[in-house]
Amino acid sequence: MCITLSTFCRMCNSRLIRSFLRHKSSTTKTSLWLKQAYIGGEWLDATSGATFEVRNPANMKVIGCVPNMTVVEAQKALDVATKAFYAPEWRQITARERSQLLKNWNTLILQRGTDLADIMTAECGKPLTESLAEVAYGQSFVEWFAEEARRIDGQLIASSMRNQEVLVLREPLGVAALITPWNFPMALVLRKAAAALAAGCTVVIKPAEDTPLTCLALAKLSEIACIPAGVFNVVTTNKAAPIGDLFCRSPQVCGISFTGSTEVGKHLFRESAGLLKRVSLELGGNAPFIVFESADIVEAVKGAMVAKFRNAGQTCVTANRFYVQSSVYDNFLKQLQAQVEALKIGPGHEQGVQIGPLVNRAQLKRLKSFMKDALQRHAKVVCGGKHLQDIGELFYAPTIITGVDRTARIYREEVFGPVITLTKFDTEDEVVTRANSSLRGLSGYFFSRDLQQVFRVARRLEVGIVGVNVGLASQAEAPFGGIKESGVGREGGHFGIEEFTEIKYICLGGLKYD
Ligand code: SIN
Repeated sequence: MCITLSTFCRMCNSRLIRSFLRHKSSTTKTSLWLKQAYIGGEWLDATSGATFEVRNPANMKVIGCVPNMTVVEAQKALDVATKAFYAPEWRQITARERSQLLKNWNTLILQRGTDLADIMTAECGKPLTESLAEVAYGQSFVEWFAEEARRIDGQLIASSMRNQEVLVLREPLGVAALITPWNFPMALVLRKAAAALAAGCTVVIKPAEDTPLTCLALAKLSEIACIPAGVFNVVTTNKAAPIGDLFCRSPQVCGISFTGSTEVGKHLFRESAGLLKRVSLELGGNAPFIVFESADIVEAVKGAMVAKFRNAGQTCVTANRFYVQSSVYDNFLKQLQAQVEALKIGPGHEQGVQIGPLVNRAQLKRLKSFMKDALQRHAKVVCGGKHLQDIGELFYAPTIITGVDRTARIYREEVFGPVITLTKFDTEDEVVTRANSSLRGLSGYFFSRDLQQVFRVARRLEVGIVGVNVGLASQAEAPFGGIKESGVGREGGHFGIEEFTEIKYICLGGLKYD
């Protein structure tokens, strides 16, 4: 079974993915493996000459070194992005021309899809099939926003005053700072950047220190696509905090879009408050996954595998807390366990691998401490529950645990690893109350064939994204984002562009209509 691929093949462009799969991962590094950051259309080292290493989490080997930049280079990036925002080559081009630049970029991303997937698997560890699926997912945002770029329309509103017109325009915010995570090194750069560029903004991106290489490869393709110098900038660093603070405090930055932890998101939100900056935050989740007795259990198990094991559980929308109605619990668990035990674990470049390593030592340490805490609170391991050191330092077995106490960290916090916590429930009211008991509200999933229940529960779940009878709801056309402490704002869909535009009202008076 290929966890995400089957779903993505339906969602994205299945022909494209099949053609990717015919290619073998390259053993030699292509021209997209870059060693410098991209600022103002130039490929640069850090002023200090400092670099940091990027490692393959499957074997901890160094796969690249990139500039370790500071606020000095970040400030330079803001300066060039500001200049580029007002430059005629960007400011004065038409929406159609902006759309064409995005289409050029999209074509190149598709052409170099196997190379991009190869880099992604090398730096974040996900299986190659998942990286290929991410190429299709990521490019779908560029394609979508290239189309949307031509529809950022204003309005002509009926005025209450005679001889006046009320015009409403949507204008680009200005320079947008994008801080992107390691779990989707391509898709989340593109989900933010393509929306910002479609709106007419310029961007400065700070990719995650674990996965800067994919973002640099995308920068190279943006250069070849003729996106003007200074419009798309990448600052690499392993010391993110001062650069994040610069983004928050600099009046040159008009909007910040961040995907990552709730703690860092809150910090950025607070720091940006001084300038009342537009902030869009995609933060952690703690998704419930509910199986009602009316569900198709085979489908529910399939959904659970996708919702949990995509990227070894390292996604914000991953299902964390599984609740199964008592009457179908044993049947669901039996089928789920069989599929979990059959998963192939190994380095992402190996044929047929479905579960790669965790991304770094910090993630492994966190997961192990969550498991220890759960077991101390009397949770029982049904399968897995082991650090698989014989495969590699960062591999952890896909796991199912039951009897998890509500006070356990693994139940209350985002797991970010391949662990399912399974709990029995009796009534709909009981499970909805438990599902909503989290402070996080990004996504939630449930399986039911009872139409009344489908609408009732979908409305009652306190989350931004509800998957009903599916384990994966993400797609370029739809809004992505959470409520409660899972964030503010939405990415994707036509909503994604709104985060990067400002509304301007023009009251046009003195017209001679009377
Ligand atoms: C995330 O985990 O942050 C993004 C997942 C998705 O886009 O589906």
